[in-house]
Amino acid sequence: MPDTLTKLAYQAFQDGKNYFGLGHKAIATQLRTWLRPSIKFELKSITPEFLDEVSRRRQVLLDTDWQDAEAGLYDKSLLFDNPWQDFFEYYPAIWFDLPGLWDRMESSDTAAFDSDIDPTLYPSYYRRNFHNQTNGYLSDLSANLYDTQVELLFGGTADPMRRRILKPLKAALSGDVTSTQVADKSSANRRLPKVLDVACGTARTLNMVRAVCPDVSLFGIDLSPAYLRKANQLLSEAPGTLPQLVQGQAEDMPYRDDFFDALVCVFLFHELPGPVRQQVIDEAYRVTQPGGTFIICDSIQMVDTPELEPMMINFPELFHEPFYRDYTHDNLSDRLTQSGFTEIDTEIHFFSKYWIARKPSA
Ligand SMILES: C[S@@+](CC[C@H](N)C(=O)[O-])C[C@H]1O[C@@H](n2cnc3c(N)ncnc32)[C@H](O)[C@@H]1O
Repeated sequence: MPDTLTKLAYQAFQDGKNYFGLGHKAIATQLRTWLRPSIKFELKSITPEFLDEVSRRRQVLLDTDWQDAEAGLYDKSLLFDNPWQDFFEYYPAIWFDLPGLWDRMESSDTAAFDSDIDPTLYPSYYRRNFHNQTNGYLSDLSANLYDTQVELLFGGTADPMRRRILKPLKAALSGDVTSTQVADKSSANRRLPKVLDVACGTARTLNMVRAVCPDVSLFGIDLSPAYLRKANQLLSEAPGTLPQLVQGQAEDMPYRDDFFDALVCVFLFHELPGPVRQQVIDEAYRVTQPGGTFIICDSIQMVDTPELEPMMINFPELFHEPFYRDYTHDNLSDRLTQSGFTEIDTEIHFFSKYWIARKPSA
């Protein structure tokens, strides 16, 4: 397909996802208003200027995504990668899940788990129904619905936002971390760079990194056994070496000091209390090798994008995100510096902010 056609197809694909997400959210909200009028939220009003700004920023994200593909950073097929099977299999379940979700909202129960789940195995901040999800992160159904729910929430821009880690990651792996041993492809002692995805969830990011950096040993860690099962299933369906997945806490990881050439961490920090954010950064520093890179992708923050404040106020109200508001005021650059990271760069793409930090060379 000529490039202009591919570009048009990508734009149409993304616009379709955006309109589908908007339609889904509008119908779900209307149903809730009719069927459960007692559920009320204190929301910041949305102005036409805000909507214009969101639309402008979304288009900039899509243009950047296209340009990075065109520049050869990743194959254009990645732009069309979508969890279709999950969508067709589980989309109806999202609707069937709504009455139970509304029940919990009505009773303000944000820590409801089925009797076969033992939440006491997990840290207290984690034992909750993040995003109002039934059983939080602790059931197979939650893991099966997650990617489709995120697609609906972000109107199809979650992967374009995740893909923004690929440029700094590739740069990190082709820089200082590419030791003579790594670079010398003929060497019998050739050592592949090691990359860890912290809080890998269902492995959408790991899948991308594997497609873009095939000569890398990949690792993933997450607290949820159900999400790791799902990650394993999705990773097994695509060609490539299976990343090593481990169940564990990001603030206490089972890896030795200086083990990884690079770490990435997508959409975790807004779900952690402030002190745990620092612990995770300290732990990331410990397992990163000198000269290695830590890349965080998470929500935008108040300091950079006050014009998007309505989103930052309304999102945690609607989607049970108890640590989000604190996160939007947290200075992660200071936290990274406190751990020892240097050369901290930040970027903003649509609703996401990125920190790219280096552990000083020994
Ligand atoms: C919003 S999801 C993001 C998942 C994935 N990175 C993505 O891009 O979709 C947050 C993930 O963080 C995991 N998580 C939360 N707290 C954690 C912790 N302390 N240690 C490890 N994983 C954690 C959850 O189980 C969940 O999979």
